[in-house]
Amino acid sequence: MSVVGQGIDRTDGFLKVTGGATYSAEHGLARLAHALMVLSTIPSGKISSIDDIAARAMRGVLAIMTPQNAAQLPPQKRPPPGAMGNPRLSLLQDNNVQYNGQPIAVVVADTLEHAQDAARQLRVHYVPAKAVLGFGEAKKHLRTPASQPERPADTTRGNAAGNMAHASIKQDTLYTTPIENHNPMEPHATIAAWDGDMLTLYDSTQNVSGVRKTAAKTFGIAPEKVRVVCPFVGGGFGCKGNTWSHVMLAAMAAKMAGCPVKLAIERTQMFAPVGARPMTEQRLRLGAAKNGKLGAVLHDTVSSTSFVDDFTEPCSAVTRTLYNTDTLHTTQRLATMNLGVPTYMRAPGEASGSFALESALDELAYALKIDPVQLRLQNYAETDPEKHLPFSSKSLRECYEIGAQKFGWARRSAAPRSMRDGSTLIGYGMATATYPAHRSPAKASAIIHPDGSAVVRSGTHDLGTGTYTVMTQIAADALGLPVSKVRFELGDTDMPAAPVSGGSQTVASVGPAVYAAATAARTKLAAMALADEASPLHGLRIDDIVADNGWLMDRAKPQRREPMAAVIARHDGTPVQADSEAAPGEEKRQFSMHSFGAVFVEVHVDADLGTVRVPRVVATYGVGKLMNEKTGRSQLMGGIVWGIGMGLMEKTEFDWRYGRALNANLADYHVPVNADIGSIDITVLDEQDPHINVLGAKGIGEIGIVGVAAALANAVYHATGKRIRDLPITLDKLV
Ligand code: MOS
Repeated sequence: MSVVGQGIDRTDGFLKVTGGATYSAEHGLARLAHALMVLSTIPSGKISSIDDIAARAMRGVLAIMTPQNAAQLPPQKRPPPGAMGNPRLSLLQDNNVQYNGQPIAVVVADTLEHAQDAARQLRVHYVPAKAVLGFGEAKKHLRTPASQPERPADTTRGNAAGNMAHASIKQDTLYTTPIENHNPMEPHATIAAWDGDMLTLYDSTQNVSGVRKTAAKTFGIAPEKVRVVCPFVGGGFGCKGNTWSHVMLAAMAAKMAGCPVKLAIERTQMFAPVGARPMTEQRLRLGAAKNGKLGAVLHDTVSSTSFVDDFTEPCSAVTRTLYNTDTLHTTQRLATMNLGVPTYMRAPGEASGSFALESALDELAYALKIDPVQLRLQNYAETDPEKHLPFSSKSLRECYEIGAQKFGWARRSAAPRSMRDGSTLIGYGMATATYPAHRSPAKASAIIHPDGSAVVRSGTHDLGTGTYTVMTQIAADALGLPVSKVRFELGDTDMPAAPVSGGSQTVASVGPAVYAAATAARTKLAAMALADEASPLHGLRIDDIVADNGWLMDRAKPQRREPMAAVIARHDGTPVQADSEAAPGEEKRQFSMHSFGAVFVEVHVDADLGTVRVPRVVATYGVGKLMNEKTGRSQLMGGIVWGIGMGLMEKTEFDWRYGRALNANLADYHVPVNADIGSIDITVLDEQDPHINVLGAKGIGEIGIVGVAAALANAVYHATGKRIRDLPITLDKLV
């Protein structure tokens, strides 16, 4: 491999900066109408009637779809509540309202403005019912989520409670994290077009195959009748992993209006019907010996969920694998509220769970007067303590070492409030990062054309992460072609199927399929040359042939060679194609697979005002082989920036009387901007993982955010002596 790993520029960069990249709402279709969702304004109850007479008479209105006239959809066999996957959708099949912001009608008009105008004229009458709102209220009726394979609600190893009683140091602390909403630059958007019984959806999604499946099920049609197209995504972060109501509503509206329909979600509508990170309350009990050895770990999580469907934020997953303790007890419970269904948000479980675990360890370090890094080393897991398997690779020790050294951790004076510069309190904090290395089966195809260029395809996605670029690199290396001669295409169910681009698994899943397809196409071409008397390579064995820069050559005598294009030319110019599938194998049962990292942060807290600034972050990761130095680093940096948002800013505020988000816009819902970010120093170790997949890549999509909020809380404590166990760490909590 020669191009893989290099920090080449994004292959789709030119299209993006010149406006040539077509996002979902931008596909131009003839007779395209505009649809707008109308959302409920009560959290619980029934719609008694919707008066649409005035709205229907308005200019440009093509259709108004409500529970009164929406097409009756075929009944569906639904997975039991709590089964992870696509949530139950609100498709106007009944009059029930289960949260504020639930889709209750769709207005279609010739222009967006006409649709907006008509939507305002709808008169919705409700019979409100009592809503369960607020965490305190919801916690009165806790439920245990249905256990999933590999995701039990509760786990036990050893006698944690018994060991706890005998520990020399006992710690019992409660951490809370708020509801957060996804705010990718590109909100959800769908264009739906019917051609007879054939449905095409241009949808901003992390899972074209998943959207196809949901549409086929929803409308009772064969999956082959649904095509989903998504060449560009302006950020996903988990909210586009599921198919939400608006996608199906767009298709229903298109059928009703008799023309293609565009439904682009407004920013405000990002705050209810399309998922959120649930709020959590996590109780962490740690028992330790004086030397810091953990004798008992108990992690009890309550996360919020909805009445529409369940979602469980798996906070204790991180606690089960990160440290070496053979006495552990974890539980997950659900508190149900009249809110929208929560969903995956970048590093679901790990981001929120590590805030509790890594804050608790920091508290323990102070109680024991042990350096926080030392405490983690004292409990270092050489093998997976939950699965009792070796790690496919783990460089966490090096991450701590290199991170601490680059950060200057040794300069930290141990006592809280002991480092300051005038009225600025200075704090150092650190935390561990980890995320599982997932992989799913994926398919790809590769075609070498007579001009010596190649097109490689897989129905995967580029969420802005660099999939186009990285897959081009992998294909170019495997084909023996320069990057400029390879075009990678993605985002279409007409292409070989790939899994959801979630769980940080795209490179690890699709990369091997692309590698296999490209290798197969190259091998096919080489075999054609060997069998061809006109080829200078005639008679060589297949293993003797290497491909480089568009040439096939004899490994032993590289002067003996010919251009790949020449082979095809002699074979009637017929393109050479290979299709491949790649899937995880035995290694999945033999190894525990995780990425690891260490995050060090410095905070400056204004002693009088409580404002927190983050002048620098130093982070080190072991993520296997990095496919592209530039896009990889960018992605990790994005995760850290979001971690700063999670630690210091992000929170969806609700009016708990009505269950409505109060800050449903980017002015009031704070995310970091450039001025909030100081220096971010990222080191990716040169980690070899021979087990994980043919590329040695473990995935980097989510690990960047993990640990950052805890590192910040720990640094804030170091600076101020105030332990904030409730995110985000805003100034009101510090003054
Ligand atoms: Mo991710 S939160 O699985 O996109």
